Amino acid sequence: MKDILSELEERREAARLGGGQKRIDAQHGRGKLTARERIDLLLDEGSFEEFDMFVSHRCTDFGMEKQKPAGDGVVTGWGTINGRMVYVFSQDFTVFGGSLSETHAQKICKIMDMAVQNGAPVIGINDSGGARIQEGVASLAGYAEVFQRNIMASGVVPQISVIMGPCAGGAVYSPAMTDFIFMVKDSSYMFVTGPDVVKTVTNEVVTAEELGGASTHTKKSSVADGAFENDVEALAEVRRLVDFLPLNNREKPPVRPFFDEPGRIEESLDTLIPENPNTPYDMKELIVKVADEGDFYEIQEDYAKNIITGFIRLEGQTVGVVANQPMVLAGCLDIDSSRKAARFVRFCDCFEIPILTLVDVPGFLPGTTQEYGGVIKHGAKLLFAYGEATVPKVTVITRKAYGGAYDVMASKHLRGDFNYAWPTAEIAVMGAKGATEIIHRADLGDAEKIAAHTADYEDRFANPFVAAERGFIDEVIMPQSTRKRVSRAFASLRNKKLENPWKKHDNIPL
Ligand code: HXC
Repeated sequence: MKDILSELEERREAARLGGGQKRIDAQHGRGKLTARERIDLLLDEGSFEEFDMFVSHRCTDFGMEKQKPAGDGVVTGWGTINGRMVYVFSQDFTVFGGSLSETHAQKICKIMDMAVQNGAPVIGINDSGGARIQEGVASLAGYAEVFQRNIMASGVVPQISVIMGPCAGGAVYSPAMTDFIFMVKDSSYMFVTGPDVVKTVTNEVVTAEELGGASTHTKKSSVADGAFENDVEALAEVRRLVDFLPLNNREKPPVRPFFDEPGRIEESLDTLIPENPNTPYDMKELIVKVADEGDFYEIQEDYAKNIITGFIRLEGQTVGVVANQPMVLAGCLDIDSSRKAARFVRFCDCFEIPILTLVDVPGFLPGTTQEYGGVIKHGAKLLFAYGEATVPKVTVITRKAYGGAYDVMASKHLRGDFNYAWPTAEIAVMGAKGATEIIHRADLGDAEKIAAHTADYEDRFANPFVAAERGFIDEVIMPQSTRKRVSRAFASLRNKKLENPWKKHDNIPL
């Protein structure tokens, strides 16, 4: 009996060593943790329950039958993050470069199926040389099985990908279909075709880091949602993110204890808006002052900075925030910011996370680059996302809400539940100067007359009251009371029930 027990321990010990100490040292030498060390940091201490530790591949080509490491290059199982259940897979680069074989894929599929069935998020830690070359089409089939599950799980359980090494070729499409992608600076990359193929086909010379590193994907392509200095920081941030999210689409997000007065008055907000309507101010100041304990978890911080997206808590409950940022491109909507915000709004709506929208938007960015790039369709994504969302929606217009962008930004007409405006709000078709130049074109040569027309337009429209008179704004509120008003609004919406008409699915402009 003792022998049998010790054999189990020996087998476990061997499995834990993956591709062996030499390769583990090489992994550490690159500044990377091993698959198991990553799981240990991600999950609550001692909470990990492993599946399929002894699974090995079935390949008999290229002498593979002589190397059958237990686990086959991926560690899978479940555990908890701050006591809440998650499923996890972590690719082991020390075993055949973390490459994906038929059995490696089956292990991932098993925990994805369990995650959907039991209603808990899936966190995938990617560090892999891609398809297991020795297995050919069996490996490609394995990828497709994972892809299909990513699609089925989308909107059912949150899916988070952490890229901690190579992720290339078709392998990128599994993370691409998950809700959030985090990358580690300097040690991870994602691309469909690597630098060598790029050079052969297009003659471009580019490094792996330039082509698909964390900086590229968080600043240029928007493929990734966050870039972190090292494995430890990235995993700590995943834990923080999970704390904001519900476990699945049938549950409400978690309610955390809070130590911040919901009725807190912030007098400094009364002077946030500068005298000159063209002077920028930092919208993040408002977000932080509204949030419980000033805690704001930003998503896609380095991309399309003219719009801000992320999570806060109000009275301990998760709220998604979308806010125009006047500091960048005057806070206008353009292709990138519309796409960024639309995806965020849709995530919140899938997972019953209420949305707070803070508006200071001068309109859509004009120009050929925008029009040729399809700003019509991309802008429509945000409009569509807000319009279809059935979660509680509270909107505060701080300053400008001009033109189509007024409609788009969770206006009353898109089923906004509470639409507040500060006294400094200007809700109009466009700014006073532009409007005057169009409707008083005949007076354009007369500076005095134009100034008078502009002042008249400002008097009439550069305020929240015309909209408030029509009921498009529910209440004009004091800036200092924003946290209080918004918290009470969301509290009153906790039992909101709104359903869209039955359909197979909608046809959002893609
Ligand atoms: C089998 C692989 C492998 C793979 C790496 N290894 N990739 N084994 N299949 N795809 C093995 C290596 O043989 C080596 O084994 C160990 O992993 C570490 O690899 P190294 O090359 O020594 O490491 P490094 O120098 O860091 O380079 C890592 C790498 C490189 C850039 C990922 O290994 C590489 O280019 N691999 C091939 C990538 C590739 O072309 N994959 C297929 C892409 S197509 P030993 O025993 O020496 O430690 C694809 C299609 C997916 O993925 C389609 C989905 C629809």
